[in-house]
Amino acid sequence: MASVAIDGPAGAGKSTIAKLVAKKLGAIYVDTGAMYRAIAIYFLRNQLNPENPDEVMQAVDQLEVQITYEGDAQQVWLNGENVTPYLRTEEVGNMASKSSAKQPVRDKLLQLQRDMAVNQTVVMDGRDIGTNVLPNAEVKIYLTASSAERARRRYKELTEKGESCDLAQIEADIIKRDEQDMNREIAPLKQAEDAYYLDSSELTIEEVVEEILARCESIR
Ligand code: DC
Repeated sequence: MASVAIDGPAGAGKSTIAKLVAKKLGAIYVDTGAMYRAIAIYFLRNQLNPENPDEVMQAVDQLEVQITYEGDAQQVWLNGENVTPYLRTEEVGNMASKSSAKQPVRDKLLQLQRDMAVNQTVVMDGRDIGTNVLPNAEVKIYLTASSAERARRRYKELTEKGESCDLAQIEADIIKRDEQDMNREIAPLKQAEDAYYLDSSELTIEEVVEEILARCESIR
């Protein structure tokens, strides 16, 4: 089945865009960051250190991640518990950035991600989808935006949810996440050679979706 891979740094709007593109294509949206976030929850709850190889092995041996769908909304299960409501905090995102750099953690999720694209058309977002998970994806997009713009969007999202936050701190966190995700040894975030580079700093959501759909003609 056909696949659309959308990679890019934290806060580039990948999930918002990927969901809309999936809807237009009648495809399934697969959020791989959410899977890494579920593993991060395991590390946090069990106070495991991602820099300790024994503790990483202990975690991957003891945890199981499963994906289901409620309508078109992806649900992530960690050892039988639906952890979807707890995934999108800064604490979990920061731990996911650290633990996802470890090979056993990546090995744990790779096959699950590939299997999801076998029998259905997917729009999958993450960091290494076009380069590593689905290297034969029909459409590959590298979606980015300036760190200042990504921080502004994240700030708006958090304040609208009623959470108090600091714009400068958010941008500092984003830059740190970029640094970790782009410079790790295993499956770092980088643009696939055959990916289309799309900077959304000056574009509306609709414009970004249109740009991507224009590249999906062959699979529509
Ligand atoms: O997209 P996100 O913020 O939900 O991702 C959380 C972290 O998970 C991110 O900092 C890096 C990691 N990740 C990854 O290494 N590979 C992916 N395909 C998706 C996410």
